[in-house]
Amino acid sequence: MKTNLGLDIGSHSIKLIELYRDGDTGTLRAAGAIATPPKSLSSTLAADHKALADAVKQLVKQTGAKSTEVHVALPESQVFTRVIDVPQLSQHELSSAIKWEAEQYVPLPLDQVNLDFSILRDGKETGTGKMEVLLVASPKALIEKYITILDMADLNPVGAETEIIAASRALVRSAPSVRNVMIVSLGAQTTDLAILRNGVLAFTRSISAGGEALSRALAQSLDFNQLQAEEYKKTYGVDKSQLEGKIVAAIKPIMDTIISEMKRAILFYQEHNKNESAEVILLSGGTARLPGMVLYIAEATGIEVQLGNPWVGIRRDQRFAVLDPEGPTFTVAIGLSLR
Ligand SMILES: Nc1ncnc2c1ncn2[C@@H]1O[C@H](COP(=O)(O)OP(=O)(O)OP(=O)(O)O)[C@@H](O)[C@H]1O
Ligand SMILES: [Mg+2]
Repeated sequence: MKTNLGLDIGSHSIKLIELYRDGDTGTLRAAGAIATPPKSLSSTLAADHKALADAVKQLVKQTGAKSTEVHVALPESQVFTRVIDVPQLSQHELSSAIKWEAEQYVPLPLDQVNLDFSILRDGKETGTGKMEVLLVASPKALIEKYITILDMADLNPVGAETEIIAASRALVRSAPSVRNVMIVSLGAQTTDLAILRNGVLAFTRSISAGGEALSRALAQSLDFNQLQAEEYKKTYGVDKSQLEGKIVAAIKPIMDTIISEMKRAILFYQEHNKNESAEVILLSGGTARLPGMVLYIAEATGIEVQLGNPWVGIRRDQRFAVLDPEGPTFTVAIGLSLR
């Protein structure tokens, strides 16, 4: 039976999911998470990469994962992903034309990136005569860094994709009948957005604000240390009735940034899609577990919000029951294991 190993190396924690694959779903074989050594992910120092590789190794050992071939997530903030409109071309024509198209959009010299593309909708489907193409440009230096780290951890990377693409695969299964779905992945350092039309990616964006910024804002306004701030954040969240609304007031500026980017994304999508709009917002990422987050975003956007459930359809025995509430944390790793 085919086994798939997904590894999501976040700035806060590293998540691992191993599945026995069966059709488009599977049976959970191994799962777990471990703290990311501080600042190691953003570092360029060999010692930090070694620390990261050691953490990955330890996670593989403690979860008992058996595969050595791994699918990894690349940080949205460092990969350039965009849905672009191009003239109607064949797959073959597009593979030679994509460089010219990419030059207009990718902010890095093209010899420094790996270019990848897939046709999302052809001219007939869009009704405009133009095709919609997903363009992904991954910096070569980033890919090399991941290869080095995984190699040190005795793992062999067989696939890489951005976090939001993996998260979308995991979550879209829970809302199969909804035409326009927004996915919001609230991590520690970043928040990634996507809008899917009929399960296909139609828009992506990444914002550099997440759970860490919320804790920092809380520490500053209420004069807490980092640990206290983290504790209060997880206990009271964005529930306005708690502590006379002091917690919410402290983290509101960060939430405002996230909400306003979400609204901009929704507006952009409406303008480009004949006024179709996100019908439901599915949340993922550790920060989605903040008490009151679902209600807060629903009130701020006027759209139905749910905590995404990536476990839908995945068979798992009793020993994994403790992970049920941790779905948001494991969404990206689950999506990778479903590739
Ligand atoms: N139960 C919880 N309630 C509220 N916040 C939580 C909870 N659990 C984790 N968090 C917050 O979620 C964040 C970690 O989420 P996640 O594991 O998705 O991040 P990451 O993938 O490591 O980060 P990034 O993707 O930004 O690099 C931290 O800021 C943490 O404080
Ligand atoms: Mg993450």
